Amino acid sequence: MFDFNNKIVLLTGATGGLGTAVAQAFHATGANLILVGRSLEKLVATFPDLNSDPHLLLAADVTAETAVHNLATTVAEKYGRVDVLANVAGGFRGGTAVHKTSKWVTPQNLANVILFLASEQATAVHGAAIPVYGLG
Ligand SMILES: NC(=O)c1ccc[n+]([C@@H]2O[C@H](COP(=O)([O-])OP(=O)(O)OC[C@H]3O[C@@H](n4cnc5c(N)ncnc54)[C@H](OP(=O)(O)O)[C@@H]3O)[C@@H](O)[C@H]2O)c1
Repeated sequence: MFDFNNKIVLLTGATGGLGTAVAQAFHATGANLILVGRSLEKLVATFPDLNSDPHLLLAADVTAETAVHNLATTVAEKYGRVDVLANVAGGFRGGTAVHKTSKWVTPQNLANVILFLASEQATAVHGAAIPVYGLG
C-alpha cells in the first residue's frame, strides 16, 4: 500500500514495543532505516538483519544535546537527508493499579465530584479518570 523505497527513515525508540513494529512496517515498504536507541548492543540484538548498509543502527540518548548533535551529523554525512522522522522514543511507567490506591472516590464524595465537574472551575479539566468503588 505504501512505498518508502529508498526513503531515509529515522526512527527513535526503535528497540521499544512500538518502535520495533514501526521499524518492521517501514522495512516492509523498502525504506532505508536509521534505528536509534540508547544501547547499540540492544539495537543489534533487536535488528540483527539491519546492521548493515543501507541501514544504520545508532546509539544515542535523545535527551542529551551532544548525542543528538552527533546523531544528526552522522546521518547528514552518510545520507545527506532524512525523509521521515518517527520520534517514538519515550517511556511508559505504570504505577499501582488505580483501584488499589487510596485515591478512589468514596460514594459519599461522588456527589461533590459531580458538582465540581459541572462547575465553571472544571473547564480546565481535559480528560480524567475518576474511579469509584461500589458499595458491595
Ligand atoms: N506501546 C503503545 O501501545 C503506545 C501507545 C501510545 C503511546 N505510546 C508511547 O510511545 C512511546 C514508546 O512506547 P513503547 O511502548 O514502544 O515504549 P518502550 O517499549 O518502553 O520503548 C521505549 C523506547 O524508547 C527508547 N528510549 C527511551 N528513552 C530514550 C532516550 N532518552 N533516548 C533514546 N531512546 C530512548 C528505548 O530505547 P532503549 O531502552 O533501547 O534505550 C526504547 O526503544 C512511549 O512514550 C509511550 O508512552 C506507546
